[in-house]
Amino acid sequence: MADKIKTIGVLTSGGDAPGMNAAIRAVTRTAIYNGIKVLGIRRGYNGLINGDISELNVRSVSGIIHRGGTILYTARCLEFKTLEGQKKAAERCREYGIDALVIIGGDGSFRGGKDMAAQGIPCVCIPGTIDNDIACSDYTIGFDTAMNTAVEMIDKLRDTTQSHDRCSVVEVMGRHAGYLALNTGIACGALVTVIPEVPCDVDHDIVKMMNDTRKTGKQHFIIIVAEGVGRAHDFAEIIEKKTGIESRATVLGHVQRGGSPSLRDRVAASRMGYHAVELLLQGQYNRVVAEKGQDIVDYDITEALTMNKSMDMDLVEIARIISL
Ligand code: ADP
Ligand code: F6P
Repeated sequence: MADKIKTIGVLTSGGDAPGMNAAIRAVTRTAIYNGIKVLGIRRGYNGLINGDISELNVRSVSGIIHRGGTILYTARCLEFKTLEGQKKAAERCREYGIDALVIIGGDGSFRGGKDMAAQGIPCVCIPGTIDNDIACSDYTIGFDTAMNTAVEMIDKLRDTTQSHDRCSVVEVMGRHAGYLALNTGIACGALVTVIPEVPCDVDHDIVKMMNDTRKTGKQHFIIIVAEGVGRAHDFAEIIEKKTGIESRATVLGHVQRGGSPSLRDRVAASRMGYHAVELLLQGQYNRVVAEKGQDIVDYDITEALTMNKSMDMDLVEIARIISL
């Protein structure tokens, strides 16, 4: 490894998230400002293994801060999970003169970063996922935009749900976590939001809630189900059977991953991208950049990967009480 970083590689990996482009832009411009050459690696670890790599300059990241997706493309690379794949990727770094990597993605991508560090290629990771499920960080790039997209969709859904006196069960992404679903549920005024972190008894928590609120005049119902809990179609079928209320299932799906990033995501991505390069300049390697309160901080990658994120139970209680 070079004493001083001269060239960095930047890649996006795992599911894309709005704001990844803003992070690539910040990394590229901060590095070039400090005299560091930047190589863009396409399609995550695939690009590293296959040498799908080209230089970025200040203009190659122009006009992207407002664009969703990632100009570097992204992928899930199975070969990289093998030691052989990791050795190939490290060899490729040496071939291209890449002294360090900036990895933008989720915790799977960070595990890959740790493996690269073990192969002698230092890295800094930036949390980019709509799921907000990175334990060491209060916030992940893409979360705000995804929540706003979900809210916009569910507001539209409410119009038709209300007109028909129906129940709409909406499946929201989040992988194994309920952060996206819970916040969306509060913002949309969902009657019930079912998340993996809180056990749900369908009869008590959904059917009884619907019957009770019906007595107070409620005639249409929005139920949000985090994908980590189960399928919206199954919930809709059970609810219709148990309540007699006509129910429809809507899976928001990948629309939640698209769109122009919100101000929150653009600013978080810009701050995190800047911080990642600053760490490399200071010789602080194998770190995960994180947001804590108002601050951008960083953690050792191994420590970050062993941390657990807890659900905000106050928020769960607020959601329950104000939906009555
Ligand atoms: P995310 O980064 O969003 O959590 P994934 O879990 O799909 O997404 O991981 C993205 C990529 O990171 C994988 O396709 C793989 O190339 C790499 N990766 C994931 N887990 C590991 C691991 N345990 N070891 C090495 N690389 C990994
Ligand atoms: O991690 C982001 C995410 O969108 C999750 O919310 C979801 O479970 C998963 O990725 C979907 O992955 P894919 O794009 O492979 O369908």
